[in-house]
This record gives sequence, structure tokens and C-alpha cells, in this order.
Amino acid sequence: MSPTLLTRPELIDLHPSPGDLCAAVEQGLARQPRQLPPWLLYDEEGSRLFEAICQQPEYHLTRLEKDLLQRHGRHIGHCCTGRGAAKPVTVVEFGAGGAHKVTPLLRALQPAAYVALDISATHVHTACIGLQMLHPQVPMVAICCDYEQLPALPDHPLLAHQRLGFFPGSSLGNCSRAGAVVLLRHMATLLGPGSLLLIGMDQPQGVAAMEAAYDDAAGVSARFARNLLVRLNHDLGANFQPRHFAYQAHWDARAQRIEMALVSQREQVVSIPPLAAAVHWATGETLITEHSHKWGPEEVQALAQEAGWHGVGRWCDSQDRFSLHLMEHGSLSQR
Ligand SMILES: C[S@@+](CC[C@H](N)C(=O)[O-])C[C@H]1O[C@@H](n2cnc3c(N)ncnc32)[C@H](O)[C@@H]1O
Repeated sequence: MSPTLLTRPELIDLHPSPGDLCAAVEQGLARQPRQLPPWLLYDEEGSRLFEAICQQPEYHLTRLEKDLLQRHGRHIGHCCTGRGAAKPVTVVEFGAGGAHKVTPLLRALQPAAYVALDISATHVHTACIGLQMLHPQVPMVAICCDYEQLPALPDHPLLAHQRLGFFPGSSLGNCSRAGAVVLLRHMATLLGPGSLLLIGMDQPQGVAAMEAAYDDAAGVSARFARNLLVRLNHDLGANFQPRHFAYQAHWDARAQRIEMALVSQREQVVSIPPLAAAVHWATGETLITEHSHKWGPEEVQALAQEAGWHGVGRWCDSQDRFSLHLMEHGSLSQR
């Protein structure tokens, strides 16, 4: 019988500083239209609300992706080892959140270690502690950081092995196309030469289904977006009145994305003490909280290629609504 480790996973907390948060808000509010980076949605309450969104009947993405991982986890594991992911491998999950999806991969790969990266410190740490109970033999660490910090993360013994990246949840779609290429380059830098990356992405579908996924009837998505204002009140001493902002999620066909925004319901002035001037909102003025791009498999492969990745496998559901893309880094001519 193999020894049981079951130590409490460590949290390495590299969360952006209050100054970084303030700078992100100042820059975002100076944009036209106003737009804040999506990581601001994920304080502790935001992470809790995102978990609740995943339970909504309209948000089919989580169920499709979990099902694919359950059904194909072993095959994906074989593909990884077959492509030279020499054991022992460390699984590095980006934007791990509650880490509800990685178990089939951990079972298939029996990795040397698991590293969960996320901007939401307590949430990802608690998730790791729970996951450790299920996989007592796998040493784990939670790292709270912004994706922008990936190329400069401090060395950690659990990152010593060859690395397999896992990026579920259609999170890549929160980036612009150019931003996605930069992020995939950052991941390649962290994961190292010849590494593999498994990305979960949903594909464009009917407009009604896509809009409903981001604006559920129970209003959880709306609460998630408004919680951003609550967070700014708490963290920056702002005086947003969340009830004076309506939530909307609409499909922008030209940009191939769902745009999620809070719309000011009246003329109002909001003070955010660290900023030099109060912020005026006209009636109908929007604050974009998040985009979710819907790229088809070919587009995902094309943008990944710009970052040096090429597809080596794809698994999708019977209606081709969601895909798991397995990518390898490095030029094809090198092998
Ligand atoms: C769409 S949720 C996906 C969560 C989970 N992976 C899933 O598939 O259900 C995005 C996750 O990425 C994290 N996140 C968002 N922006 C981030 C950033 N810039 N850097 C690090 N983590 C980020 C959030 O805290 C959240 O857990």
C-alpha cells in the first residue's frame, strides 16, 4: 500500500495589492465604455456566487465539461503519457476555483503533485484542502495570483516535475483574442518546454441558450455582477448603490461574444475615495463586467498556435457544444 500523505495544502498568497486593485479600477473606469477586469468579480462572495451559477439549469457548460472529463479522463491521461508526459507529472490548474473538475485527471494520471492557481485566495485554498481528502497521496499547493504573474512565479518544489496545464471553465473566452494569445504564452512559460495543456471551451450555440446561460432566471448571474460593486464599496470605500444598476447579458454577433454589463438606472455620482474625482454615471451608461467569447474549435486551435501550441486531441459532447482541447507546446518540426 502506498503511504498516505494527507498534509494540509499550503496557500501561497500573491494576490494583487490594494494599490494594484485601485489602479485596475482607475484604468477600467477611464475606458469608453467603462470596463473592469473580470478577476475583480472573484472576491470570496463572488467565488461563492459563481459556484451557484454553475448549479443553474441554464448554465449547461459545467455539466457538459464534467461529463466529458468523467467519460474521457482515462483516454486523455493515456494521450498525455503517450505524448511523452513522462511520470512524474505535476498538474497545474489555472483558474481552479472550487477545483470540482480535476479529479478524473488526477485519477488517470496519478501525478506527483497538483498546483491550483486562482485569484480568489480563500476559495482556492479551501478547495485544495477538500481535494486533498480525496487524493491523499498527491501533494498539493494553492497559489493565489493573477494570470499576469505567471511568468514570474517564485520556484516551488511541487513545480519541479514536468507539468501538465489544465484550464477548464471556458475561462480563456474571458480574454480578448489578443489577450488569450498572451495568456497562453504565459502558460507556456510557466509549464516549460514540450508541455501539454488541456483547455475546456464551449462553442457558439443558439443566441437564446447562450444569453440564458449568463442571465439565469433565478438572478444569480445578476447578483454575481452586482457583487463587484459591493466589493468596490468594501475594498475601496466606494459608495455604489448596486440596486441602481441593472444587469444585462447580450450576444454581440460581430465580436462573437456575450457581453455582461451593469447599466446605470439613473444619473448618479459615485465616490471612490482613492480616485482623484468622483465618477458620474449617465442614465443607461454601462459598466462592462465581463466578456465571454465563443470561439469554434478551429479558432481556438488558431489562436493557440499563435502562442506556440498545437492541438493533439479534442473531445466533445454528442452535439459539439463543448470541447476539451489537448495542446502541446513547441513547433511540430522539432519532433
Ligand atoms: C469562470 S470561473 C471557472 C472556475 C472553474 N475553473 C470552473 O471551471 O468551474 C474562472 C475562475 O478563474 C479565476 N480567475 C479569474 N480571473 C483570474 C485571473 N486574472 N487570474 C487568476 N485567476 C483568475 C476565478 O477566481 C475563477 O475561479
